[in-house]
Amino acid sequence: MSGSLPLVFSVTSGKGGVGKTNLSVNLACCLVQLGKRVIIIDSDLGLANVDVVLGLTPQKNLFHLFHEDASLSDILFPTPYGFSILPASSGMSEMLTLSTGQKLELLEAFDELEEDLDFLIVDTGAGISDNVLYFNMAVQERLVVMTPEPTSLTDAYALIKVLKMNHGVERFQVCVNMANDNKSAKTSFSRLYQACDHFLEGVSLDLAGIIPRDNSVRQAVINQKPFCVTAPDSPAARSVQALAGQIASWQVPEMLDGNIKFFWKKLLFH
Ligand SMILES: Nc1ncnc2c1ncn2[C@@H]1O[C@H](COP(=O)(O)OP(=O)(O)O)[C@@H](O)[C@H]1O
Ligand SMILES: [Mg+2]
Repeated sequence: MSGSLPLVFSVTSGKGGVGKTNLSVNLACCLVQLGKRVIIIDSDLGLANVDVVLGLTPQKNLFHLFHEDASLSDILFPTPYGFSILPASSGMSEMLTLSTGQKLELLEAFDELEEDLDFLIVDTGAGISDNVLYFNMAVQERLVVMTPEPTSLTDAYALIKVLKMNHGVERFQVCVNMANDNKSAKTSFSRLYQACDHFLEGVSLDLAGIIPRDNSVRQAVINQKPFCVTAPDSPAARSVQALAGQIASWQVPEMLDGNIKFFWKKLLFH
């Protein structure tokens, strides 16, 4: 049945601090408001992320799944906003050293999510480290976040280039965050588009959304609450709601094994 399988997508970037975690969390809130079931995987190795933005501290992470016989439901951390967090920032390197038998067991555990989920959002780190690349290879869609800053544009291009040249990834959605106005955001996007069009044959880029620079985002970070919940009428929240509506209409590819299993399989056996 079409539309019933979950979609796995990353929120990723070349440059750090462009707003990935805030976008992941607020997109999750908006998708929940649209009646979707959502899990965020916090996969940024360098920084505690989702927990900082939300002021929550999950006790268990992927590491406990391998080493302390925890089950998936033990480590999935429910938030007051209707979505759950899968803390994966610790445990990633262990995951790749598991035996084939252990990996297969893990796949079975994740397979159980298939029926209870509409979106799995992977909040990645920034840059082109192996960890970031693995996640971006395994997901079905990538939302590349950039800001209008020139360095953010060149770093976004660098990420897209590595994913295309080394891993054959060709489809990208782009979100321009901290935009001063729509016109300049579109100009930034078209610079990226032209660079990809010129040098990376086969890559397709879509402008999925523009989020304005908005003080309610900073305020929400200080309060450790999502701005889509505390300031739903703010310009940033309105734009994230529109982006969520757009994402809710993305076509979900249907993998033979199921989409969640496809994702973990690629991640574990790449
Ligand atoms: N639309 C926005 N308007 C204003 N400030 C923003 C916006 N998006 C993000 N920020 C600021 O950028 C900071 C970094 O955001 P974060 O989501 O942690 O980025 P990343 O996960 O990409 O490192 C936030 O603490 C916030 O202050
Ligand atoms: Mg982050």
